[in-house]
Amino acid sequence: MTTHTRLLGVMGHPIAHSKSPQMHNAALTHQQLPYTYLAFDVCPERLPQAVAGMHALGARGWNVTIPHKVSIMPLLDEIAEEARVIGAVNTVVCEDGVLLGLNTDGAGYLQSLQEETGLDVRKQRILIIGAGGAARGVAYALANAGAEHIVIANRTRENAEQLRDTLSPLTEVKAVHLEDMRRWLSDRTLIVNTTSVGMAPETDVSPMPEEWLPEGVVVSDLIYNPAKTKLLREAEKRGCVIHNGLGMFVHQGA
Ligand code: ATR
Repeated sequence: MTTHTRLLGVMGHPIAHSKSPQMHNAALTHQQLPYTYLAFDVCPERLPQAVAGMHALGARGWNVTIPHKVSIMPLLDEIAEEARVIGAVNTVVCEDGVLLGLNTDGAGYLQSLQEETGLDVRKQRILIIGAGGAARGVAYALANAGAEHIVIANRTRENAEQLRDTLSPLTEVKAVHLEDMRRWLSDRTLIVNTTSVGMAPETDVSPMPEEWLPEGVVVSDLIYNPAKTKLLREAEKRGCVIHNGLGMFVHQGA
């Protein structure tokens, strides 16, 4: 590090579990870029001070994670289109003194899905399970990339309906309750789990019964711990192409 080294980082609370510093510092070293990336544990009351501090110290930008993805938005100068539609920011870039909020989750997901499965999103009839923050990013990216039809199935139907209303200018979208998703499965070509169901340590649960899974479609799970969730293990048994969330984590960071 020299006097030219500039600051990058991630703000969250808690933050000790984050793998972002390892990933970004490895990439910066590999690319020989003059930056360093640190993790900052910022409690919600201190967020405005932390943003002003990063700005004053000349940070080039930083990532934002739980619980600050929404509350940081009014503290920034500009919000990019995707972040505005998704309603959350995961990256701040400081460009000529202006703080710009971005969301790279959707683009990261899309790049990973296309790289690992070769899927052409424009022809897909998609079932998205869940309607939370992660679902918003992924659903927006899929709809924006020209997905043919999207069904959003969620435990709380009102949350699925809200997401449907955000996406309906982009493509045809239907919102259903989780329990009603079975009748939408027969013509789906891509199934995406965005809920935490199946994540470590509770690895023996799946968002749908094995016998509901159609054969030979693409099944994608945003979880990457474990690398193969119960949903993906069962999908593989049924001859589906499977895709997990590790690539999304890598590409949203890249
Ligand atoms: P994230 O930002 O990771 O997406 P979130 O915004 O809390 O987290 O969203 C979690 C999603 O997983 C929601 O769609 C949630 O359903 P609700 O809208 O009904 O809360 C879904 N989810 C979480 N736990 C679930 C469970 N045990 N069964 C079914 N859905 C679940």
